[in-house]
Amino acid sequence: MRLGRTSSSNRTCVAVLTADAAFEESIRATFGASSAIDLTIVSGSVAEQVDSLDVAGATVVVLDLDAGRADEMAALARLMTRIGQWPPVIAVTQSFDETVARTLLQMRIADFLVKPVAPIDLVRACARVAQGSSNVAEPTDAQIFTFLPAVGGAGVSTLAVQTAMLLLNSGGPREKPSTCLVDLDFQHGAVADYLDLEPRLNLVEIEPRPDRLDRQLLEVMLSYHASGLAVIAAPNRPAEMRSFDPDVVTRLLDLVSTNFQYVVFDMPRTWFSWTDSVLLGSNKLYIVSETTVPGLRHAKQLVTAIKERLGDGPQPQVIINRFQQGLFSSGLRLSDVQQTLGDAFASAIPNDYALVREAIDRGVPLDEVKAGNKITAQLKRLVLDKPAKAAPEATSLPLIKKLKHAIAG
Ligand SMILES: Nc1ncnc2c1ncn2[C@@H]1O[C@H](COP(=O)(O)OP(=O)(O)OP(=O)(O)O)[C@@H](O)[C@H]1O
Ligand SMILES: [Mg+2]
Repeated sequence: MRLGRTSSSNRTCVAVLTADAAFEESIRATFGASSAIDLTIVSGSVAEQVDSLDVAGATVVVLDLDAGRADEMAALARLMTRIGQWPPVIAVTQSFDETVARTLLQMRIADFLVKPVAPIDLVRACARVAQGSSNVAEPTDAQIFTFLPAVGGAGVSTLAVQTAMLLLNSGGPREKPSTCLVDLDFQHGAVADYLDLEPRLNLVEIEPRPDRLDRQLLEVMLSYHASGLAVIAAPNRPAEMRSFDPDVVTRLLDLVSTNFQYVVFDMPRTWFSWTDSVLLGSNKLYIVSETTVPGLRHAKQLVTAIKERLGDGPQPQVIINRFQQGLFSSGLRLSDVQQTLGDAFASAIPNDYALVREAIDRGVPLDEVKAGNKITAQLKRLVLDKPAKAAPEATSLPLIKKLKHAIAG
């Protein structure tokens, strides 16, 4: 019996084996609605069915088993030996005790949940394990991509979301590099909305004691998109004009940069006390602007200001978003843009309002609305073709030190 299906790299294939009709129904209701997930369910017990499961192509396997039965546990052990490192397996059990926990651990089960299982917990577990073992491995030194606006509404959030998706899917269909998108626009953040997620970052709770923020608390404040993308976003508080203690923000950034392989920051327009720190810690710095004279002027001014502040740090590059050749009566052409911005010009991303709107309204990446679209293709050329080289500053100092240094300065 074939469980997994070969799929395009940005779809998550969840394969489930269960003999419990109610559990099967709740899984269908949870995963079935998502267009980012290919769900395959096989009805039957692990003891009877597991040997004939073909898991090739599955991103995550979920096994509903009776951990109190020796034949079920033996069948699970056979499967684990057969599949080796990948795909990761999540066990869902009815009964649970210390012996079961130890056995599952020894078998290298990626995660286990005890019934009754809340659908959101299963989604989170799947997203977490789909990101690969790198997610729980040694602290990493993330590649950091930062997007900041030259003018309002230029498309920072849109490009940040799409870049995060590209990075997440850059490892091929089998392994997804752990990737986190952080919305630092605490006041008007749109990332959670664009991905149809519930924002979970509670800065007010962390603020009195930033040291409390550890990997475990971070996990609670992450939202996971069905693709496996981790997102940090705070609920919008449009009427609240306040800045957060830079220590909170720097602690958050430090944690994120040591726990993920790729981090993408969506920056606000306002310059906060922690802004320099984020820019300094970035490997790639993209200023997003539009094809208007003021847009180009602001982008140029921002490039100069950042170069002055960061010195030898990462060099800002300008992306002109919503570019449409020959549309404007002012006649701004690509060559004009290139000439105005010089070396700082990085890319012109085509205008396709209908496509972007549909992706936002459905809470999905652009590629899912239209595979091979021009916006994604152009962005891919920019962020994936040239691997992000660490700026000298970015690798020599841990992020937290750079942050403190920048804030003190
Ligand atoms: N390449 C594109 N083609 C067409 N429309 C686009 C493109 N990129 C973004 N948009 C649209 O532009 C609008 C603003 O995009 P987005 O929210 O990403 O910008 P922003 O810079 O984050 O804005 P804000 O200043 O509000 O944070 C959205 O309606 C989005 O649909
Ligand atoms: Mg935005």
